[in-house]
Amino acid sequence: MLLRIEQLDVFYGRNHAVKAMSLDLDAGEIVTVLGANGAGKSSLLKAIQGTVPAASGRVFFKGTDISRWSAARRVASGIVMVPEGRQIFVNMTVHENLLLGAYTRRDDTAAEIDAIYARFPNLAQRRDMQASVLSGGEQQMLAVGRGLLARPEVMMLDEPSLGLSPILVKQLFKLIVDLNRNGLAILLVEQNTSMALSVARHGYVLERGRTVMQGTPAEILSNERLTAAYLGQA
Ligand SMILES: Nc1ncnc2c1ncn2[C@@H]1O[C@H](COP(=O)(O)OP(=O)(O)OP(=O)(O)O)[C@@H](O)[C@H]1O
Ligand SMILES: [Mg+2]
Repeated sequence: MLLRIEQLDVFYGRNHAVKAMSLDLDAGEIVTVLGANGAGKSSLLKAIQGTVPAASGRVFFKGTDISRWSAARRVASGIVMVPEGRQIFVNMTVHENLLLGAYTRRDDTAAEIDAIYARFPNLAQRRDMQASVLSGGEQQMLAVGRGLLARPEVMMLDEPSLGLSPILVKQLFKLIVDLNRNGLAILLVEQNTSMALSVARHGYVLERGRTVMQGTPAEILSNERLTAAYLGQA
């Protein structure tokens, strides 16, 4: 197993945001985490990345318990998160934003940056412009490109389709499938449940911090109570 989460709990003060969450992600897989606003999806990803502390539970990466590792060490070892809302630096250029993705690298990244520009021609055209001029879709591509430069083995995407037009959502999911076919394991948090379940091998549904269901996309979609209550927009 590439990534294994066991009985993870996250608290913000007395708010128990993630409750005994367990999750498995194998090499080469896409696994999705679904749930309504406030269900604990981002908190789960942040605890895996190490940017919020887990009160209990463990995170294993390739069989090693990394629960006590710093976030920087987790990134350097190949666990990379593209955060919700993209969080690119709007006062920096597109190129400077990409370079930040390579900050854990000591080797030469020029060829990989060229490959990212080849994949995202809109970014190449705007490489010396401030990131603030990018459209929502271009900002999302920049955030993904920046994440790729950290050479992830696991990429965690937090609601990447949020705010994108239907055409851009399609393009984004094509990119996700494409990256996955090239060997990247992806942990995908989404509220666009139909798109997420169309690409994932396995899904988890969170409700107020707890996993209320997990299974194949077909199993999740056949649960009428869940599809009505939490996946209504699918
Ligand atoms: N930094 C924080 N401090 C205090 N409470 C927080 C913090 N971040 C999240 N929470 C709370 O933890 C719970 C889970 O939030 P989280 O952001 O993980 O949910 P989510 O599933 O990602 O929601 P959304 O779909 O809106 O992004 C919510 O009750 C939220 O208010
Ligand atoms: Mg969130």
